[in-house]
Amino acid sequence: GRVAVVMGGSSAEREVSLDSGRNVLEALRSSGVDAHVIDGIPALLDAVRAGHFARVFNILHGGGGENGELQGALQSLGVPFTGSGVLGSALSLDKIRAKQVWTALGLPTPRFKALPRGADVHAAAREIGFPLIVKPAWEGSSVGITRVFSESELDAAVELALRYPGDLLMETLIEGDASEGGEFTVGILGREVLPTIKIVPKGEYYDYNAKYVAEDTQYIVPGLSGEAESEMRALALAAFDALACSGWGRVDVMRDRHGRNWLLEVNTAPGMTSHSLVPKAATIAGLDFAAVCWRVLESSFH
Ligand code: DAL
Ligand code: MG
Repeated sequence: GRVAVVMGGSSAEREVSLDSGRNVLEALRSSGVDAHVIDGIPALLDAVRAGHFARVFNILHGGGGENGELQGALQSLGVPFTGSGVLGSALSLDKIRAKQVWTALGLPTPRFKALPRGADVHAAAREIGFPLIVKPAWEGSSVGITRVFSESELDAAVELALRYPGDLLMETLIEGDASEGGEFTVGILGREVLPTIKIVPKGEYYDYNAKYVAEDTQYIVPGLSGEAESEMRALALAAFDALACSGWGRVDVMRDRHGRNWLLEVNTAPGMTSHSLVPKAATIAGLDFAAVCWRVLESSFH
């Protein structure tokens, strides 16, 4: 039957999603799938109610496409969709709730404070200690995130994060050094955990520019070897399962200079742009872009 590839939408990651979506559409068509573009949730629900589509490939990033709203609506209409359901999506999009679940289960995540709007951010920062990182709890692609090295930088960081919906998350900044650690990510396709990727941005860190614009961000796949590689992959799968995720996703992990891993978040509709990470890891595992899209589509066959 016909497949709706839902992309775009109205979140801060709209442009990234359109980029991901166009790639997915082309790949599905090259595999012989009758795939069509739909922009945003209202248009999708209209088309689905009119009986135009048999299933949905969800490549909306952030907002209602990744927080359970779309998943609940499609489930109530009885139309299958790719990726996590209501619970996994909702828990993962909210970085604070994700960390609370991991903490309860004894999974490692950087020390943090959840700050409702209007909270005393200076008192919280003194408890966490510097350097720390301030994030809006509900955004992706590093939108609204600031690394804070001293108290004088805190107000500007909070002001930026408050431009986005949701509470604020303040957490300990984990950093590697030249020989050990740094930023990693682990893709999951079905029950297969892909090789880890170590991300080495040219600038200070892996921000929006390093993610989608810069050509000099370096990716090392697999990012680790031997026991360390298997340990990080196992941690990623445990983190994914803890949040009731399914189908596919990508788990972001920081590794400190002592070789300890710290969970940051799970992305339930990860980027599929030409700069994105799941396709890079899949290539090393022997899956080309079209094969990845097919595997994701298969996650809707339940
Ligand atoms: N939120 C972006 C799209 C990602 O995780 O890849
Ligand atoms: Mg994210």
